[in-house]
Amino acid sequence: MESESLTSRLEQVRERYAVYEQRPFAINIARGIPSSKQLKLSEPLLEALELTDWLSEDEQDIRNYGGLLGIKEARILFGELLGTSVDETLAAGNSSLQLMYSVLVMLMYTGKNKWSQEDEVKFLCPSPGYDRHWAMLERMGIEMIPVELTGEGPDMEVVEKIVSQDPAIKGIFCIPTYSNPTGETYSDEVVERLAQMHTAAEDFVILWDNAYVVHHLTEQHEEALNILEACKEAGFPNRPFMFVSTSKITFPGAGVSAVGASETNILRLAEELSKQIISFDKLNQKRHVLFLKDKSTILSLMEKHAELLSPKFEWIQAIFSAYFAGERENFVQWTDPKGGYFVHLTTANGCATEIVDKMKQIGIQLTPANAAYPNGVNPLDNSIRLAPSYAELDKLEVAVEALCTCIELVTLEKYGENFIGGE
Ligand SMILES: Cc1ncc(COP(=O)(O)O)c(C=O)c1O
Repeated sequence: MESESLTSRLEQVRERYAVYEQRPFAINIARGIPSSKQLKLSEPLLEALELTDWLSEDEQDIRNYGGLLGIKEARILFGELLGTSVDETLAAGNSSLQLMYSVLVMLMYTGKNKWSQEDEVKFLCPSPGYDRHWAMLERMGIEMIPVELTGEGPDMEVVEKIVSQDPAIKGIFCIPTYSNPTGETYSDEVVERLAQMHTAAEDFVILWDNAYVVHHLTEQHEEALNILEACKEAGFPNRPFMFVSTSKITFPGAGVSAVGASETNILRLAEELSKQIISFDKLNQKRHVLFLKDKSTILSLMEKHAELLSPKFEWIQAIFSAYFAGERENFVQWTDPKGGYFVHLTTANGCATEIVDKMKQIGIQLTPANAAYPNGVNPLDNSIRLAPSYAELDKLEVAVEALCTCIELVTLEKYGENFIGGE
């Protein structure tokens, strides 16, 4: 493309952007929140409990204090999702993030090898990853070491090398199935290598956040191997803590979360939690068991979620493919996840922040650029996460069209002469 045609293309895209500026939107696609239609699917949950249901299977009065391991039937249900026995499962309150935080506090401040007594504590952070994991580590003063994701989990050559050399590296945060934000699922080989690897730190842990374990968008279901079983086989049963919750199955603000780990770790965690809380909401655990029943009932409910979510993901694919047909290499790469809640964009280097700013100026809120990197620092400035679940389809459509315009505008302004002039 000659310079002249670049100028006219820039003029056209600037004109389109100017129209958006005159009529700004009010659309938010920043966070992975279920839509109201999705929430409606779980309304019968509120009616599930009968007035005679007060005793759990292990004879706890679910209205009263106590039972920090969770009621037996909830431990069985979550054990099905996690692949754990009752003794390896603890059912808790509505937030798995809070459980992760509690595990970190436990490891930092309790036990004979408490991490807080050491000069430095570091964690591996497969990136792009989940900003709230990084926020937790930052709050604890744990140094974050980014490790690249490969499309089937972290780059294990790098992981194995550095964990074997540095005893200050105490753990890794993983989102093994439909990872946030890249949508990738860890391969069997990656899971086995994580379980078997030699670590210089004797108390190395894997925080295995299986937030999207049943969140399939197509009939092609992906699920990472069971890390606890792999670790047991490798002789490191206390290495993993696995997390799951119903936040995106029933109600994010009023669901149930659970942790799966060796029985030793479950008992240790229950003792730690007893310093924070006397009882989780067992009524809600019981209600969830009555409503969700078992894994196959959960999968049927997730199919209904997928019916509402998949068209949004399909639209994004269609709009990007049409807009950037043949020009993907120059402007943007996008993921096509088979599950989870996100689409991840890799823009041309140095463009992501400006694209997100341009979107904000026309009333469309995206997750801050590069937020998926530890401390929000990504020297390439090329990462944007889209969270399409909450917006209605018509709003999502205009938001993604506007996003394409912003990507084209910012990339042409920065690189137009270089990559188009050469053709
Ligand atoms: C990877 C991941 N983990 C955890 C959560 C939140 O979990 P919870 O609501 O159980 O605290 C989210 C929510 O977006 C998530 O994406």
